Amino acid sequence: MRYRRLPDMYDVLPFPPDRDPWLHAARWRYVETVFSEVCRRFGYREIRTPVLEPTELFVRNIGEATDIVSKEMFTFTDQGNRSVTLKPEGTAPAARACIEHNLFTAHPQLKLYYIGQNFRYEHGQKGRYRQHQQLGVEAFGAADPAMDAEVIALAMTFYEQLGITGQQLRINSVGTPQTRPAYREALRDYVRPFLAQLSPEGQKRFERNPLRMLDTKDENDLRLLANAPRLVDYLDPESREHFETLQRYLTRMGIPFQVDHRLVRGFDYYTHTVFEITSDRLGAQNALGGGGRYDHLVQDCGGPSVPGIGFGLGMERCLIALHELGIALPVPDESPFVFLITLGDPTVVRPLAVQILADLRRAGFPADMDYRSHRFPAQVKRADELGARYTLILGDTEATQGVIQLRDQSTKEQRAVALDALIPTLRTLA
Ligand code: HAM
Repeated sequence: MRYRRLPDMYDVLPFPPDRDPWLHAARWRYVETVFSEVCRRFGYREIRTPVLEPTELFVRNIGEATDIVSKEMFTFTDQGNRSVTLKPEGTAPAARACIEHNLFTAHPQLKLYYIGQNFRYEHGQKGRYRQHQQLGVEAFGAADPAMDAEVIALAMTFYEQLGITGQQLRINSVGTPQTRPAYREALRDYVRPFLAQLSPEGQKRFERNPLRMLDTKDENDLRLLANAPRLVDYLDPESREHFETLQRYLTRMGIPFQVDHRLVRGFDYYTHTVFEITSDRLGAQNALGGGGRYDHLVQDCGGPSVPGIGFGLGMERCLIALHELGIALPVPDESPFVFLITLGDPTVVRPLAVQILADLRRAGFPADMDYRSHRFPAQVKRADELGARYTLILGDTEATQGVIQLRDQSTKEQRAVALDALIPTLRTLA
């Protein structure tokens, strides 16, 4: 019996695989570190929420008619007869956790970030998986468009830090739950005369979630919708002012953007600002990340009236874009600093080698030895394969004299070092 991973899942490996070199754990760690550092620079603190949440949390807040809730959730009944769901996104869980732990009382303004796994039963293609990781932030407490601008700037700074270029920022405003029904009806009225010509998916959306008709890649639908009414023309004065102020702030910050009247995003909780960052390096699944404002979500989750805005950036898509752009990441060196090699009578040299290795590691040196072979050439080969900077050679003579041979692998220079001077000597070389 040979097991294989489930469809549209991936493994992140210790070495870069030939086919998808971005599935290399060291690259993931590097990108995660850059993200955490940028978040810290902007004053965001980390939150970690469980992978499983009550199903209701997502059904109520993402919205029953959305693609995620209607067909993509991994939902099951647990042994306690609860309906639970592997989280498809991180925003509702973050709001849930902050309410549950009363964080809004002590921190009326709360800026959080997370790096988390999400699960959606999607049909795989490049950049779309059933488990994906998001780098996200949620800024709670401020309704000021300057907060929107900060959140967007954080995402752009992150990509800039990684050297990703050529991405586009698109923004739109979806207004408020009060203004949206009028727009929804206007959109339906516009589409009704040619509804039969719309794609089957478009027709479904006409009934269930009309705004989502705008989010299509179908050429014919796009043509039919070219002159559709625009959300922005249905905004109340306050939403319009918010949207215009955000644009002024982005301009001041030197962040280029485009207003995209068709940008609606797939969550019911959004109000006012929505945005997406796309890259033409990604093919059909071109969204590097997206986000928006959600001024009623906290209250809808049973908390106080606290506005918020955030985003989620796809980790896989970020790594694919880096790969496609040919950007080499400064991944840390994972080779050992020293590699211990034994020669001679194993019953004498091996116990001493095991002890020295333990001391070296305790002192903080990345150190290793070969547990498979006592043969000298095999051990030397292993040291080379691992790319050790120094080797330490311990033979019978050295063991009895209390010394060890220290060899520089690049210059091939070798000298004897007293065992009790080994750690101080290595410190001068590190
Ligand atoms: P989202 O647009 O659904 O937003 O996901 C954010 C990003 O995650 C996408 O732009 C994409 O890069 C990545 N992503 C989503 N689904 C997949 C998938 N199946 N495979 C690979 N990557 C994927 C949210 O989830 C919102 N919670 C973002 C947000 C935070 N809004 C406000 N705060």
